[in-house]
Amino acid sequence: MTPIPIIVDCDPGIDDTIALLTAFVSPELDILGITPVCGNQPLERTVRNALQVCELGRRTEIPVYAGCFRPMFREPIYGQFHGQTGLGNTVLPDPVKAVEKKSAVDFLIDTLIAAAALRKRITICCLGPMTNVAVALRMSPQIAEGIERIVMMGGAYREPGNRTMTAEFNVLADPHAAHVVFSSGIPIVALALDATHQVMLKPEHVAQFSSVSGRISETLAKLMAFWDRNDVRRYGSRGGPLHDPLVIAYLLAPHLFKTERARVFVEHESELCMGQTVADWYGKSGLEPNADIVIRVDAEGVIAFFLERLSRYAEKAVA
Ligand code: RIB
Ligand code: CA
Repeated sequence: MTPIPIIVDCDPGIDDTIALLTAFVSPELDILGITPVCGNQPLERTVRNALQVCELGRRTEIPVYAGCFRPMFREPIYGQFHGQTGLGNTVLPDPVKAVEKKSAVDFLIDTLIAAAALRKRITICCLGPMTNVAVALRMSPQIAEGIERIVMMGGAYREPGNRTMTAEFNVLADPHAAHVVFSSGIPIVALALDATHQVMLKPEHVAQFSSVSGRISETLAKLMAFWDRNDVRRYGSRGGPLHDPLVIAYLLAPHLFKTERARVFVEHESELCMGQTVADWYGKSGLEPNADIVIRVDAEGVIAFFLERLSRYAEKAVA
């Protein structure tokens, strides 16, 4: 089967890292590039983390392009649960791999226009604030013809927000970018908190992941252990929600997910509800749906999926 060409736009980030490590051992995916953005951490740090994760995953041939230094309009906010470096208390070697000279926005524009010229389409995986994709769209709207779909982690529909009462972090961190992307007409699959809160990475899972993941097991265990929110009242159990990795699982095991189409609106003016994502489930707006929102996840199936994928770091093939 021809590998799916993807670009991973991200803000590593502990869960971004787990998503990248999973994608690295998935030959069904052809990772054309990684485009870090200002999100969980300032850009300099998300770029450094992305370079380090490429080296950890032994995928240093994948180019990394630095994205937008800050959100389109609002002041930057940063993640609260990824530790000082964005990778918890994990210490990875200083990266030898260098970031590309071309910017992420130019890479997106050049790559997507070239794909469209060949009548090909690329899947964009958005694991952080969607600033890079939004700016690329504002500069060259025709890139939409080179995009198969955007599979994004972000938003909260029937769930409350995780950064404010109403907003999930990725959308709140750049609500104007999210508005641009949801208004673009590009097919979108939305993995919001409604989906990610169904899959808690619990301490018992961390032990399992550590036991199967060979040469990365120590780093993975530290990253995953740091991700434990220990907030049973909010999440119903110990552990942390597997946010970003669900984007990769959706691409590779879509049967584990159930979606519902709706028109999505992004609040980008209100002070109280800035960054809120509103789904028009019943066509009240009279506008066509613009997203497939994941409403149900087979959590056990997803955990088993990640165990199998990350166990590939123990096999000779990726040693
Ligand atoms: O709200 C979860 C999202 O915010 C994830 O992408 C996580 O990495 C943080 O960026
Ligand atoms: Ca992220």
